[in-house]
Amino acid sequence: MKFFIDTANLEQIKEAQDLGVLDGVTTNPSLMAKEGITGEENIKQHYLKICELVDGDVSAEVISTDFEGMIKEGEALAALHPQIIVKVPMIKDGIKALKYFSDNGIKTNCTLVFSAGQALLAAKAGATYVSPFIGRLDDISTNGLELIEKIRLIYDNYGFETEILAASVRHTMHVIDCAEIGADVITGPLSSITGLLNHPLTDIGLEKFLADHKKAAQ
Ligand code: E4P
Repeated sequence: MKFFIDTANLEQIKEAQDLGVLDGVTTNPSLMAKEGITGEENIKQHYLKICELVDGDVSAEVISTDFEGMIKEGEALAALHPQIIVKVPMIKDGIKALKYFSDNGIKTNCTLVFSAGQALLAAKAGATYVSPFIGRLDDISTNGLELIEKIRLIYDNYGFETEILAASVRHTMHVIDCAEIGADVITGPLSSITGLLNHPLTDIGLEKFLADHKKAAQ
């Protein structure tokens, strides 16, 4: 299972990378705006900084919503760095763009996926990754994990190679549940990854080991 971090914050990306378990980064226009990154050139430079920090895939989202615009933007983003994955929204022109990119050797991430039908379309169009937003489904009292289960079943039924990137992950239980279901990737905040470290028995056990070691040495 791959771990992506869902942020455009360079310090958090570096912290996750330093942990040694990071496989990539996802960003979106809201996350870029949160870091105060605006203007085409600054946005491109920021993507390059992220690519330099991590070894894996870096999703960069197009802003256009028409086919021609998405192709132009996506090709420019893909040309920036080999680690860039072009993130395309789940809309009609987005499906056409996914197919175009797939036919032209450009890797993609289909974003804003909230149903099994949308995930099926994304796979048919040749998306590299599909991003079902589980946290946002949970927010409206719809079980996001059930969607991951459905997509896993559908993709396995037909051997689709599109990777299931469970997005909008909010906490460690989402990560663990996605691992049980067999999602290929999760993307979430740094806390959803570092939180996996924590168990009180680990802390108590370590304290005791160190205390016993100290006592024996006296
Ligand atoms: C996916 O790539 C999105 O950036 C993301 O996971 C959105 O998550 P949110 O619902 O926490 O904004």
